Amino acid sequence: MISQNTIQQILGRLDITDVIGGFVKLKKRGTNYLGLCPFHNEKTPSFTVSPTKEIYKCFGCGRSGNTISFLMEHEKYSYVESLKWLANKYGIEIEETFATDEEMQQMLAADGLYIINSFAQQFFTKMLYETEEGKDIGLSYLKERGFREEIISRFQLGYSPEQKDAFSKEALQKQFNREVLLKTGIVVLRNEQLVDNYRGRIIFPVHNHSGKVLGFGARILKSNDKAPKYINTPENEIYVKSKILYGAYFARQAIDKADECLLVEGYTDVISLHQAGIENVVASGGTSLTQDQLRLIKKYSANLTIVYDGDAAGVKAALRGMDMALEEGLNVKLVLIPGNEDPDSYVNKIGATAFREFIQSKKKDFILFQLEVALNDAGKDSNKKAEVVNQIAETISKINKAEDFTKQQDYIKQCSEILKIDESGLHALVNKFIHNRVSTLEKKIHSENMRSEQENVFDENSRKAAVTNYEDSTFSLLFKDELQEREIARILLEHGLKDRAGQQLMAEYIFSEMPEVTIFDNPDIQKLISTYKEILNDNRNKVTKNFFIYHPDISLSSLAVSLLNFPYEESEHWRREFSQASGYQEKLFELKYEDFIKTVTEERDNKLISFLKTEEDKTHIEIDSALNYLKLRKIRRMLIENQADLEKPHSTEEYEVLHQTHYHLKKMEMELTRKLGTVILH
Ligand code: CTP
Ligand code: MN
Repeated sequence: MISQNTIQQILGRLDITDVIGGFVKLKKRGTNYLGLCPFHNEKTPSFTVSPTKEIYKCFGCGRSGNTISFLMEHEKYSYVESLKWLANKYGIEIEETFATDEEMQQMLAADGLYIINSFAQQFFTKMLYETEEGKDIGLSYLKERGFREEIISRFQLGYSPEQKDAFSKEALQKQFNREVLLKTGIVVLRNEQLVDNYRGRIIFPVHNHSGKVLGFGARILKSNDKAPKYINTPENEIYVKSKILYGAYFARQAIDKADECLLVEGYTDVISLHQAGIENVVASGGTSLTQDQLRLIKKYSANLTIVYDGDAAGVKAALRGMDMALEEGLNVKLVLIPGNEDPDSYVNKIGATAFREFIQSKKKDFILFQLEVALNDAGKDSNKKAEVVNQIAETISKINKAEDFTKQQDYIKQCSEILKIDESGLHALVNKFIHNRVSTLEKKIHSENMRSEQENVFDENSRKAAVTNYEDSTFSLLFKDELQEREIARILLEHGLKDRAGQQLMAEYIFSEMPEVTIFDNPDIQKLISTYKEILNDNRNKVTKNFFIYHPDISLSSLAVSLLNFPYEESEHWRREFSQASGYQEKLFELKYEDFIKTVTEERDNKLISFLKTEEDKTHIEIDSALNYLKLRKIRRMLIENQADLEKPHSTEEYEVLHQTHYHLKKMEMELTRKLGTVILH
């Protein structure tokens, strides 16, 4: 941890216009500075920096923050990385304090690994350029493949000589620690001796997003069935395969500019595309694409284009990658490279311009792509075709964020046309998948909440984890909040107008239980709730389901429709409607619709607490538990935010307030978990 002293020095020294001015061209306007917003596209400047208040705000897109949050957002640095960047800029020496020995060990180990990697990278580069062997074998191989010197040096490629201990010797002479050396994977133990691990191989250093070397990929030169084509750095404190995107450091600015990230498989693909002037490209490397890698990509751009080989394995990997990317909320497109080529060989074959055009014209939307592949496979087989419908419905169902609703509707329309089936039939099927997923998630959250009560989530360890993974936690909490919010909105629409113990309406009860200040993460839900409240006060007879379903504001009506996909109480009515809507599809694909109904009904019954006698009781429980879950989510969020705030420098009085807030929130949290426990257990 960076010491308070250092943080204070940095905060005392930094100048917001100086820092932001390094990234954005700023002009003085009165007391403020004005420039073109780096976070959205604009022609007239609305990005304002106030040196006195030490904040920025864009009046176009609404982004705002302080110097540190600017670096976090613009440069994708973490809080600590931002501080380090500033310390470096202002020549402030960083003093680190460690809460535990373990933390210190980890820090030292990571530092050691970086130092050795950087040394090794320079060593391998020197071997490539300055030894006969490096030039004759390594450099000539790279040149033969078409890599020019400028690109070889930009990517810091290198060569590891055949000699068994060329690197080991140098490293030991430098007095590097043996254990740490072994951890880097550059050397291995043979008969108690350190020997080089990448002998006779081309070295591809793997950089983190700020350019430090995390590890290496070492490619064999000759084809050899016995030895692996690449030897990669083993997992260690800094090399975490699932979180690495090869080339991210070199691609970041280009990705920003293009607002698009290309994803390829291999090191050589990235390098060749760079050489062709296509710089917004990263590679997932050996392992199949992971969710963490996609999350990284999402930090850079929401638009992802996967560029994979067109062979069977490539198509499979691409489909899988696209599916995951969709779930991550990315706009995914796909391009397959024809023949037996990969992006590297193809760009060398057809040239940079043709390659660019190829990507632009062949980019295909994922869902339509998947559909095409699957339909081709299915041919005339009607069973297979029914499977295709199911599969595509499931995929479409994954675009289930409220803001993507229109996109989802578009897909349903386009796909039903391609499939020549009824649009509403496909619609119903998509809804089934959404519903299934939401209820599984809800169950998971129920059990998570139960568990965390026992474990006491905010014990010391998880407190640390919560703070280090601040972004991640916020992410998952955000996601979960949305479920609770949807549930409240659904219940309002579903039960709002029912009587509560003959005294008030359920809706009135819900609003009285919900603090005035409750902010819903999902703006559409927020709008629905506010509208509901307004109308309820005005004319309670108006707030029916249909009022929302047919609301002229499309975001409200879309939301209402998606919330009410599966009216629990009206299965009869719904069954009739469904059978009409899906009649077409049923005939076409012989879906066993009776079975389908049965599953849905069973799910409904599981969902309600079955031993309770009256409908009214069930509704009560449902409402209270939904309210409590929502409150719990909001409180946990506040706890995390408060924690993060506590990590920042404050005056003693401020700390006092933050601590009090913590205990207050903690108390409410325990009270709620207790209540929820009661509902669940009894
Ligand atoms: N890979 C790996 N280990 C292997 C094979 C591949 O780690 N034994 C990873 C590497 O990151 C490689 C990527 O998978 O870059 C793609 O593999 P491949 O297409 O076989 O390698 P290229 O990098 O394209 O190498 P080349 O063009 O030289 O064949
Ligand atoms: Mn290749």
